[in-house]
Amino acid sequence: MKKNILLFFLFTFCFVFLLTELNCSSKMTKDEQVARGKYLVNIGGCNDCHSPKIMTAMGPLPDTTRLLSGQPSNLELPPIDTSMTSQGKWIMVTGNLNAWVGPWGISFAANLTPDSSTGLGLWTSEIFIKTMRTGKHMGKGNNILPPMPWQAIGGLTDEDLSCVFAYLQSIPPVNNKVPSSIPPNLITEKYKKE
Ligand code: HEC
Repeated sequence: MKKNILLFFLFTFCFVFLLTELNCSSKMTKDEQVARGKYLVNIGGCNDCHSPKIMTAMGPLPDTTRLLSGQPSNLELPPIDTSMTSQGKWIMVTGNLNAWVGPWGISFAANLTPDSSTGLGLWTSEIFIKTMRTGKHMGKGNNILPPMPWQAIGGLTDEDLSCVFAYLQSIPPVNNKVPSSIPPNLITEKYKKE
C-alpha cells in the first residue's frame, strides 16, 4: 500500500515536471517572437549602423520615421582622402554611421525593413539565419563586408535569430535602394578628394 502511494506521487511528480518542461520549450507566439526580436535588435546595436539618423545637440539619433532602412539612396558621400584609408591607417564613417570606408572599399548598411524590392521582404527566416552563420550575402553569395558583425550575431541560437527576423519583418517597410558596395580601387574614381 505504502509502495503504491509512493509510486503514485512519483508518477504525478514526473507528469507535472514533464508538462512544465514541455510548456517552457513550446513554440512562442508571433507577438512574443516579435517582442524578443525587438529587444535583441535594440541591444544588438542594429540601429547604430542600419538606421538613418537625425542630428541632435547630443549627436546622431535613429530617425524613427525610417528605422533600419539603411544608407539613404539620395545621400551624397563627401569626398574621400584614400591615402588615409589604406591598410593600417584610418577607417572612416559618415556622420549617420551608415557608410563605412576602409581597406575593403566602401560598405553601406543594408535596408533591413520588409520592403520587397529594396529590403528583406523576400527573405525567409532560413535565409536570414544562414546569412548570419556564414557571413555570405543571402547565405551563399559574396562575403559580407566589415563592419557588419555577423560573427557575433551568428552566435545567437536559431530561436533568437528567428525572433530577430520576425521583428525585422514586423516594422514598416521603407522603399530605399541602398547603393552597392564600392571596391577599394574604385573609391578614388568615384569620390576623389577635391
Ligand atoms: C557596425 C555596423 C553594423 C552593425 C552594428 C550591424 N550591421 Fe548589419 N550591416 C552593416 C553593413 C555595413 C552591411 C553591408 C555589408 C556589405 O555590403 O557587404 C550590413 C549588412 C547586413 C545585412 C545584409 C546581408 C546581406 O546578405 O546582404 C543584414 C541582414 C544585416 N546587416 C543585419 C544586421 C542586424 C540584424 C544587426 C543587429 C543585430 C546588424 N546588422 C548590425 C553594418 C552593421
